[in-house]
This record gives sequence, C-alpha cells and structure tokens, in this order.
Amino acid sequence: MALTPRLPMHRREMMRWLGSACLVATGMGASGSAYAQPLPGLDVAARRTGRRFGFAIDPAYADQEPVKSLLEQHAGVITAENAMKWRSIEGIFGFPDYTRADRVAEMAANLHAELRGHTLAWHQSTPAYLANVTPQVFVRAQTAHLQAMAQRYAGRIHTWDVLNEVVDADSKRGDGLRESVLSKLWGTDQYPALFELARAADPLAKLAYNDYGMEQDEPWCERRRSAVLFMLEDWVKRKTPVDVMGLQAHLDTSRRFSASKLSRFFDELRALGLCIQITELDVRDTQVSGNLIERDAEVAALYREFLDTCVGHPSVEMVVMWNVTDSDSWVNRWRQGQRRADGQPMRPTLFDPQGQAKAAFGAVATTLRSTQVKFDKTMVRHT
Ligand code: G3I
Repeated sequence: MALTPRLPMHRREMMRWLGSACLVATGMGASGSAYAQPLPGLDVAARRTGRRFGFAIDPAYADQEPVKSLLEQHAGVITAENAMKWRSIEGIFGFPDYTRADRVAEMAANLHAELRGHTLAWHQSTPAYLANVTPQVFVRAQTAHLQAMAQRYAGRIHTWDVLNEVVDADSKRGDGLRESVLSKLWGTDQYPALFELARAADPLAKLAYNDYGMEQDEPWCERRRSAVLFMLEDWVKRKTPVDVMGLQAHLDTSRRFSASKLSRFFDELRALGLCIQITELDVRDTQVSGNLIERDAEVAALYREFLDTCVGHPSVEMVVMWNVTDSDSWVNRWRQGQRRADGQPMRPTLFDPQGQAKAAFGAVATTLRSTQVKFDKTMVRHT
C-alpha cells in the first residue's frame, strides 16, 4: 500500500518548483515531447568548483544507447559497478579473468574520466570458496588479490575503495563492526593493513573506506555515523593511509533528511583529515504515491536537499551515481524486498528508461551550477 508522503511546506514548494524547472532543463514540453535542447554536462558543472561527477557502470549496458551517449555528455568519473569485485574477477577461484574490469578501465580512459576502483575487500565479494578456509589461507588469498588488482591498474585509479561496509552498528560484537568472513578470517584489528598494502601497490591512488546508511536522519543512521567515526579515529591514530570517506548515499524519500546533521558529520570527517566522496548516489521512491511527475518531483527534492549539503561543503570532492538510467539501476534489478508495494519499478536515477532526463536531473544540474563553495584541494591526507 503506497503511503502519502507528509512533507514540510518548504519541501512541497520545492517539489513544485523542481517540476517546472525540470521541464525546462530537460527540453520536455508539457505534452512530454522532446524538443531537443542540449542538456548541461554534469561533470562540466561539477568542475566549476573543482569537483567531478560520474557514474557506476557495467560494460553490458554502458556500450549501448542511451547510456553510451549519456556517459559521453555527463561522466567525469567511472566506477565499475561489479567488474572489479573479487567475485567478478575470480568467478573460478585460481583463474582470474580481468576482461570486464579492463573494459571498464578502457571506457573510463576513452571518456577522459577518472576511474574509481571498487572494491578491494568486501565480505559480499569474497569468493564463496574462501568462506571455510583457515585464516592463513584467507590472508594469503586476500593479499594476493589486493596486490594483483592495485598493481594492474596502478597509475590509472583516482581512488580505490579499499574496504567496503565493515560497520554494523547493531552487531553483537559491541565495537560497531560487522561479523563477516573478513572479521573472522582477516581480523578487524588488521583492517588498516589492507590500506598499507594498497598504498604500497599503488602509491598514487587515494584510498577510501566506503560504506552506506549515514546520510539521512534516522536513529540507525546516527548509530552508523558514530560507529564509523569511532573506527576511523582509531585508524587515524594508527597512521593508517586512509584518505577518503566514501559515502554511498543510497537514499530513500521515506526517510528523514537533516542538512545540519549531515554537515556536522562532514565536519567531523574533515577534522580527521579525510575528504569525502559521494560514491553510489541514488534515491528510491519506495513509498511515494501519485503519478510519475509527482514521484519524480519528490525524488528530485531529496536530490536537491542532499546535494546542496554536499556541494556546500569544501571536503566533498566528487559525486558518483550508482547506475545511469532507471532501467539499468540495481534497485530495479535487485531483490523483491526493494520493490514498491504497487509493483512498479522505482525511479532512482537521473534518467528514465529511455534516457530522458527527469526532474532529478534538473535538481542535480541546478545544484552543481549554483554552489559557490569550492572543493578544498588541500584535503589530501597522503600519509
Ligand atoms: O551476471 C549474473 C547473471 O549472469 C546471472 O544470471 C544473475 C542471476 O542472479 O546474476 C548476475 O549477477 C548479479 C550481478 O549483480 C549483475 O547484475 C549478481 O547475482 C548480483 O549479486 C550482483 O549484485 C550486485 C551487488 O552489488 C553485489 O555485488 C549489484 O549489481 C550491485 O549494484 C551492488 O552494488 C553494491 C556495491 O557494490 C556496494 N554498495 C551497495 C551496492 C548496492 O547493493
């Protein structure tokens, strides 16, 4: 059953404004027909303030229209959605295949885009075969994989997600860290060693810790922010070569958002010397009722509020969307549990399934173009 969103007045006004702004920004008339106006390039807009803008892609759809042209117009950063994950590389353990990962690196180069590496260590991408080996065998395999990846793409990677999603503020461990194959076989105390190995293998790449669920104003997000800060403070004390906090930003309009709380979190990360990258942005309209224009307007309003906060802060270096259009979005390919109650596909990205810009595009373009706050390039914490 779809819920009617209860929004404060200013948000409703913003939605109305975004609805009409979008028609202009997308070149769509009220009838919905396109009268081909060139869209502003999002990476060009981001560069005005020293930032970059980009997308996670899979070679399976990135080579085809409309994604191909959208990337040419808007991408200044490329992340491999899956192709650089350990499970993708080593589908058959012991027989690494870099074909798809190489293709993503090549696509980024052809687009003159920065390449983000995702991800060297993640419990969900560890080959299943390794779940029951001894710690010694696991450490040898994880080390070899990390070094092989970091060395293979050395000099081509802007930032590596070294470690992904190790925080679980509600875990039974008490230290805010997730129970997983990594905690069991690599050891939570040894997480900093992953960053040291990555730095040694590719000294030029920035190194990120990447995680989700810290961007909105819900009690569980607050717990996750605290747990991440606690972990990062420890790593910084231990002189871990971590440069970047990657905030995935899989947002949902059904959750509250507080610009002041997110800004405070950015300040806390800055105090640790970390810069911030928005690494997997999308906005789910899980519970928004109404027609597509109303749904898109609400999605756009959250994009606007969130990005205003991000590009209003000097520590935020780049914004990367997780997928390009609604039809290639993981949200619409993913488990039943992520679907809307009415069974309709969600509208989480900037472009509809045909590649037409939606209200969210207008919101993002306007936000990137209107900020005066530049990325602080001195935020480079190479240790
Ligand atoms: O390619 C196979 C296909 O051959 C097979 O028929 C099909 C059957 O399930 O699976 C396909 O692979 C799937 C792959 O996505 C490509 O769609 C995998 O099962 C599925 O596990 C994989 O899911 C990915 C997920 O990470 C797990 O790696 C999603 O695409 C990807 O968007 C998602 O990305 C994560 C980030 O890495 C970390 N942050 C959260 C984000 C969203 O969950």
